[in-house]
Formats: sequence, C-alpha cells, structure tokens
Amino acid sequence: MKIFQEPQKLQKWCRARKLAGAKIALVPTMGYLHDGHLSLIREAKRRGADEIVVSVFVNPVQFGPNEDYEKYPRDEKADLAKCREAGATAVFFPTPANMYLDRHSVYVNEEDLSKGLCGARRPGHFRGVCTVVAKLFNLAHPDFAVFGQKDYQQAQVIKRMVRDLNFDLKIVVAPIVREESGLARSSRNTYLSPEERERAVAISRNLMAFGSKGGAKTLAALRKSLEKAGLVVDYVECVDAETLEPRKTPKKGCCILVAAYCGKTRLIDNRVL
Ligand code: PAF
Repeated sequence: MKIFQEPQKLQKWCRARKLAGAKIALVPTMGYLHDGHLSLIREAKRRGADEIVVSVFVNPVQFGPNEDYEKYPRDEKADLAKCREAGATAVFFPTPANMYLDRHSVYVNEEDLSKGLCGARRPGHFRGVCTVVAKLFNLAHPDFAVFGQKDYQQAQVIKRMVRDLNFDLKIVVAPIVREESGLARSSRNTYLSPEERERAVAISRNLMAFGSKGGAKTLAALRKSLEKAGLVVDYVECVDAETLEPRKTPKKGCCILVAAYCGKTRLIDNRVL
C-alpha cells in the first residue's frame, strides 16, 4: 500500500496509473476509520477498482469556528492498518498546509442543495466539503468515488457538483452502516458516554419505526419522541430525496433526515422512504 502526504506525489502516481489503464476509486474520509468507512473501501473493491485511494484529512475549511475541528478524533496509525486490511492500495494523508497553500483563495460553492438542513445550521460547511472534494478529484483522477449515505445531503451536494462542474467520474453512495444497537456509525460516536450512547439509539429506532404500527406518524410526533428520549433536536425534516425540497407528507421518494444533539455531540441519520 502506497502512502502519500504530498498532493503532487499522489497526483503524479494516480496520473501514471490511469495512463496505464488502472480503474481508480477514491474514498474520501476524515479518518478515525470505522466499519462505515471500511464498507466504502469494500464497495470500491466490489466494483472492480484496480487502485483504491483512501484520503484521510480532517478538513479545517468545513468546520465552523465553534465546531469540533481541534477535538475531532485522529489516529493515523490505526487508520493505516485498517486501510491495508480492507484492501486500499494507497492512502493520502495530507497536512492542512499542503492542501491549502498560503493565500488559498478559491472555493467551490453549491448554491441549491446546500441551502437547507445541515447547510442552514452549519454556514460554510458544504463550501468546505465541495472545495476539498474537488481538490481530491483533481489529485486522484478517480473513475468513481464512494461516499456514505449517512451524510445524505453531502452525497447529493457532491453529485450536483460533479454534474455542474463536469467532473468526469461517477459518485457511488453506499448504505449506512449501523452498530448493533442501530446507531449509525460515525467517528463522532466516540464522544458519547455509555449513557449518551443508549440515549442516541432513539434516533435510529424512531426513524426506522416511523410510519409503522407503534412508530410516529408525523414529523412532529417523531420530533417529540426524540425529545422525550432526552435528545435536543436540531432538525427533523422530510424532503424530496433528489431535490431536497421540503415535503409536507412523507411518502415514497422522500427522505427523512434527523440532526440531534446527544449531550454536546451532534448526530445525524436519515431514511429514504
Ligand atoms: O464525509 C466526510 O468525512 C467529509 O465531509 C469528506 C467528504 C471526507 C470531506 O472532507
């Protein structure tokens, strides 16, 4: 497995591999890898990639001033071992200084799908995501890139960026990987105390039960169940799964998205109907 820190070196290697006919997959991550990330690597393998490039970079540009950039968990050594084990053929560990050169001044803004949901609560977040992902696409020349469905809005925003900026690659969205309890896997789960972890399970439990016998029938009822479980709801919304436009009545073709605080930890989850 190749290990790169310098963007130019990764770019040169990927370009050479591409010219040699290799099918390249990119799996962008912020590290502290868990089963969810590993499922993205396995998905790349399943789709026949010759080279699977995993980027591990806690991207400062997508964090707001009062967010958890500094405390975001990091473990390079464990990430390398997990990448190797899962079948990655290259890992890219850039530093903020070599991704964002002095006086960096070009950003990518998606201006439609980013407006609501997390985009409304985390100003500048998707601008940071689009910018770093566009840079990764230019460095790795992937034939396809794999993202997780847990970050549903992110996946839609990136698909739109690829379409609108004519990036020549396919976006693959892999299903959410859950802990045994149902909690969606996230590097941020590590912030949860054992008691909070139990409370957090209410998100997936209520989302999965939504619309069924015994589950909430309306978004207001879903919100109430989450609050009753001790979570502070940031949003509970139903949107068109493609356009992300709000929909009053949840039905097939919609996505229900939840963001909620469990203690100080902000968790997200979703379900496509
Ligand atoms: O989903 C993430 O981990 C990040 O937003 C991404 C796509 C790696 C960009 O930094």
